[in-house]
Amino acid sequence: MHEISLFTPFSSRGVTFANRVVVSPMCQYRAVEGCVTAWHLAHHARFALGGVGGAVIEATAVERDGRISEGCLGLWDDGQIAGFRQLAELYHEQGIPLGVQIGHAGRKASSASPWDGAGPLASAAPPRGWTTVAPSALVHAEGWPVPVALDEAAIARIVASFAASARRAVDAGLDFVELHGAHGYLLHEFLSPLANHRTDRYGGSFDNRARLALDAARAIRQVVPDAMPVWYRASCVDEIAGGVTLDETVELARRLKDLGIDLIDCSSGGIRGPVARSTRAETPGHQVPYAERIRRETGIATIAVGLITEPAQANQIIGDGSADLVAVARELLADPNFVYRAARSLGHPSPHDVLPRNFAFFLARRNIHAAGAATK
Ligand SMILES: Cc1cc2nc3c(=O)[nH]c(=O)nc-3n(C[C@H](O)[C@H](O)[C@H](O)COP(=O)(O)O)c2cc1C
Repeated sequence: MHEISLFTPFSSRGVTFANRVVVSPMCQYRAVEGCVTAWHLAHHARFALGGVGGAVIEATAVERDGRISEGCLGLWDDGQIAGFRQLAELYHEQGIPLGVQIGHAGRKASSASPWDGAGPLASAAPPRGWTTVAPSALVHAEGWPVPVALDEAAIARIVASFAASARRAVDAGLDFVELHGAHGYLLHEFLSPLANHRTDRYGGSFDNRARLALDAARAIRQVVPDAMPVWYRASCVDEIAGGVTLDETVELARRLKDLGIDLIDCSSGGIRGPVARSTRAETPGHQVPYAERIRRETGIATIAVGLITEPAQANQIIGDGSADLVAVARELLADPNFVYRAARSLGHPSPHDVLPRNFAFFLARRNIHAAGAATK
């Protein structure tokens, strides 16, 4: 039987990834009014030239007030499409599929960038920021402003904004869309009893708490082409008593799959407390068991993410069948050639070929010269 490895291509609907490593979404805090800037092009060029299998553009707001920070990307306006098209071209020139993570930051919107403390902008000096919204008027953490509880009309507007942003992603030539349902942002806030105390059809039972995520997923699936994958990033567990459990996320995955969602990107945490997303100490591959269980019990494809830093570790996650893809964030910041490193250390038959020809050609020749010198 053919063994699946990090270098086995993966297909999701009409999109094929040459290998199993994808760039995990990473906020850059460098957008201007939601638009792509030169920074984003430079940031992504590092990965596009490093042979990744695919990439997901950072959390991108479906509405202006849904930005996490003032520097977040957006797809709430047609004028923002052109910058995303440039990013798509950058990856497509290397044959790499590109997606965008679309989301609404809910009560965690209007916050400062991490290096400015990631606190609420309202408490910045001078005070700035905007009014945040959430399922219930419950603060994210002490010192954060009380968000406005959304009414049904506003919820419907946000669902429509998700669909409109997905349509703009299609117009930009992107290959897939990921819904941001994790890390304490709006969709996660609705799902978690810790942030959702509503008594209407969006609160209480699991069916009600999952309604917004499912509505958004359905609306997006309706506006994107059949061949375009739609993924969902979940915080699989809240890790706080009374919060979202893995059992619930398995059920959510099942329902998302029924709606035509193709993959669950398995993260965790973020519903409460300081900016740190997880209350548990991170250990290598600590979220892999979520990806494994969701994949095994529902049959949906999954991504494993979180402290995946070593080629052998990544290869084992795929080989074991724990996940279909691995997402890598910080290790790719440290080494954008992670995939090339993996190809060399895992015995890929022609490791240079994971890189663009402009690099591969010369690296292969260098090896021939080096081998020649060694035999002299
Ligand atoms: C700079 C930075 C920005 C991030 N921005 C996002 C984001 O926009 N959306 C998201 O879902 N996760 C975001 N994350 C989380 C990563 O996608 C990833 O899940 C996490 O860093 C764990 O993976 P790692 O150990 O490979 O870094 C971000 C992480 C970093 C380091």
